[in-house]
Amino acid sequence: MKDFRGKTAVVTGAASGMGLALAHRFAAEGANVVLADVEAVALDAAVIELTALGHNAIGIVCDVTQRDDVFALADQARQHFGAIQIICNNAGVESGSRFTNIPQSTWDWVMGVNFYGVLYGCQAFLPLLREAGEGHIVNTGSMASLQGTQPTASPYIAAKHAVLGLSESIHHELKRAGEPIGVSVLLPGLVRTNMAYSERNRPHGVPDTAADPEREEQRRWAIEGTAQGKDPAFVADLVLDAIRTDRFFVPTHPDLALAATERRMRWLERDADTPVHTLEAELVHQAAASAPVTHPTTL
Ligand SMILES: NC(=O)c1ccc[n+]([C@@H]2O[C@H](COP(=O)([O-])OP(=O)(O)OC[C@H]3O[C@@H](n4cnc5c(N)ncnc54)[C@H](O)[C@@H]3O)[C@@H](O)[C@H]2O)c1
Repeated sequence: MKDFRGKTAVVTGAASGMGLALAHRFAAEGANVVLADVEAVALDAAVIELTALGHNAIGIVCDVTQRDDVFALADQARQHFGAIQIICNNAGVESGSRFTNIPQSTWDWVMGVNFYGVLYGCQAFLPLLREAGEGHIVNTGSMASLQGTQPTASPYIAAKHAVLGLSESIHHELKRAGEPIGVSVLLPGLVRTNMAYSERNRPHGVPDTAADPEREEQRRWAIEGTAQGKDPAFVADLVLDAIRTDRFFVPTHPDLALAATERRMRWLERDADTPVHTLEAELVHQAAASAPVTHPTTL
């Protein structure tokens, strides 16, 4: 897909961060945009901003952990704009602790948003992309799709690995069948969003980990790292380029993504160079690999 004019893009987690930046980028290219998010107030503000700029945008409150919500999103988007060509399954959250301290409710929430949200999005929207005659699925993974070294983050790491596996599998199935539908997996490193505060959306029954001493290092790394991370608008540009060129892997920090994969290969080959994660070191690397900030308002 080279031209987004008159096409319709649906973005989950569109009220903040990379989802919001994607919504702006698609709209700027002349696409209709459906913004979906669980945060109704932020979603309204995002839609008002886009429509004030003269763009065709609607907001639909949707909790991606709820399969019925995601299918209702697909129905409403189709009813409103007629055909859907792009789905960005982008909503994501992070929480955890040491593995043995993580309650099932945290697993259900983190897997529910990061993995099942993506799965439901693929299930609900792939038939609509087929109906439109062309399309693209963009699933948001993470550097945590490529390495499992981040401490206290086992639910997030498991979910993001699952997103990569699911996306790769759908990609090959569609390519084998010669279908005109592309799949990309976005693999962000640190990006300047509200991700470090994702527990703001935790459902009743999921514990707050703000005071968990096991999470101290992870918490500090996430807050400081995202504050110094890449601009979400830069990431949105990468995604649109990946759709245009039908590229599967979309790493925001390609050098770090390659280094992580190579470390894993060496580990697999020789059981040597076992990756050891030091969050401090990674923060320095990621900051060094960051692009200049151009749109501070897209946080
Ligand atoms: N920021 C980073 O450094 C980073 C790094 C790697 C991966 N990611 C991934 O990028 C994606 C976007 O996150 P972001 O960094 O823009 O964070 P963000 O917190 O700024 O935005 C995430 C959005 O998802 C929404 N959301 C949360 N739970 C939801 C649910 N159940 N249903 C619908 N929407 C929900 C939030 O309300 C928010 O608007 C996520 O999948 C995240 O895991 C981010």
